[in-house]
Amino acid sequence: MSESSATNLSQLDVQHVWHPLTQHQLYREGSRPLIITGGKGAVVYADDGRAFLDAAAGLWCVNVGYGREELIEAGTRQLRELAYYPLTQSHPRAIELANRIARYLPDTPHVYFSNSGSEANEVAFKAVRQYWKQQGKPSKVKILSRFRGYHGTTMGALAATGQPERRRDYEPLTPGFMQVTQPYCYRCPFHLEYPSCHMQCADDFERRIEIEGPDTVAAIIIEPVTAGGGVIVPPEGYLQRVEAIARKYDVKLIVDEVVTGFGRLGSMFACTRFGIRPDIVTMAKGLASGYMPISATAFSDELFEGFLGDVDSGRHLRHVNTYGGHPVAAAVALANIDVLESENLAARSEESGQRFLKQLQEALVDLPYVGDIRGMGLLVGIELVKDRMSKEPVSNATMRSITKSALAQGVIMGKASDVQTERNNILMFAPPLVINDSDIDQLVNVVWESVTGVMTQEVAQA
Ligand SMILES: Cc1ncc(COP(=O)(O)O)c(C=O)c1O
Repeated sequence: MSESSATNLSQLDVQHVWHPLTQHQLYREGSRPLIITGGKGAVVYADDGRAFLDAAAGLWCVNVGYGREELIEAGTRQLRELAYYPLTQSHPRAIELANRIARYLPDTPHVYFSNSGSEANEVAFKAVRQYWKQQGKPSKVKILSRFRGYHGTTMGALAATGQPERRRDYEPLTPGFMQVTQPYCYRCPFHLEYPSCHMQCADDFERRIEIEGPDTVAAIIIEPVTAGGGVIVPPEGYLQRVEAIARKYDVKLIVDEVVTGFGRLGSMFACTRFGIRPDIVTMAKGLASGYMPISATAFSDELFEGFLGDVDSGRHLRHVNTYGGHPVAAAVALANIDVLESENLAARSEESGQRFLKQLQEALVDLPYVGDIRGMGLLVGIELVKDRMSKEPVSNATMRSITKSALAQGVIMGKASDVQTERNNILMFAPPLVINDSDIDQLVNVVWESVTGVMTQEVAQA
């Protein structure tokens, strides 16, 4: 792209595009968003010719990497064959995709399609409330989630989200949602240590259910590993404990696999890796690797059958979206799953993730401002602190300087944003699963350079 047309695009962007999670005053003051015009594998290209290693896979979704011909061809073929039909009737690609998902998740074999992770969770919330009403338990409406958990941006999904900065200014949100603690061992809310803590954090669900009354609680929703809230990996046994609590009180368990599904944590789905059997599984990002918008909510037989009845009984799920299970998106998702399977990308995610974590630990072990390095598969977080004793979080401004420095060195890395006031001190990595060893070496070097560069300067100025 010529320099003048790049400048023109950039001006038009600032005039007309309202960007998510962005303070546009910065653009008035001269900074600019990256304008990405292409991508291949784990690398994206900007309109000014620069190349970047995308350690965020877009928004943690481009699992198979950019520029995959298989997905492009599948979408093009489907556009020619049938560009659109709604799932109020049916079409072959949605049928094939639902079957494919059900093969991975045999305990939740009934698949409802939507367009985004937020919507997939909304479907889960609506369905579970309707289910309990139809079971003759109309007071079971409350949905429990966790602080720092993220379940989406729409009013219900945001109500389930435990991130005060995201919620603030949009309240009141949908009623009936409440949060309990996270298994955040680095900053244990109970000031205890695993395993002698006996996982008070998991028992917090039980306490809350008892306080509220089990007859008022419809469901629990959790991410297997909390992603945007700061890459919080639960201790061994935590998810099983939460599952057991849900069973004990007849509360449905919704597992939000929007980030973790399709290889991110080293297996196609995290619930199979952890050995838990949710009543509902939601998924989105890796389902079509971001090539098309598509998401899904998978339900157990028991939940699905709770909607059967006379045709005019009103027991059917009264939820519809125009584009859910769009044929082109479904075709691309099928091709995406083919690639994930044929290239064994879940196993590769596990291997590359272990290598990345090990290298980060070796490189950063002596840095006083690295509080914690944690992750699973290719979902990794680094928590930065002013010093290790106080664990005082570094500021939002510091985090911005670090990601800006990485960008100048050719790496896009993510960071927690708008989670909790001045507690967004976690760098986050979720690269395409096809990232290779030399990309990982580059990534580790750039992390080291940008963290030490910014922190050394800050210490000198203090
Ligand atoms: C765990 C989780 N659930 C739900 C969502 C919402 O997905 P979407 O942005 O597609 O609505 C996200 C998005 O990042 C997520 O991380």
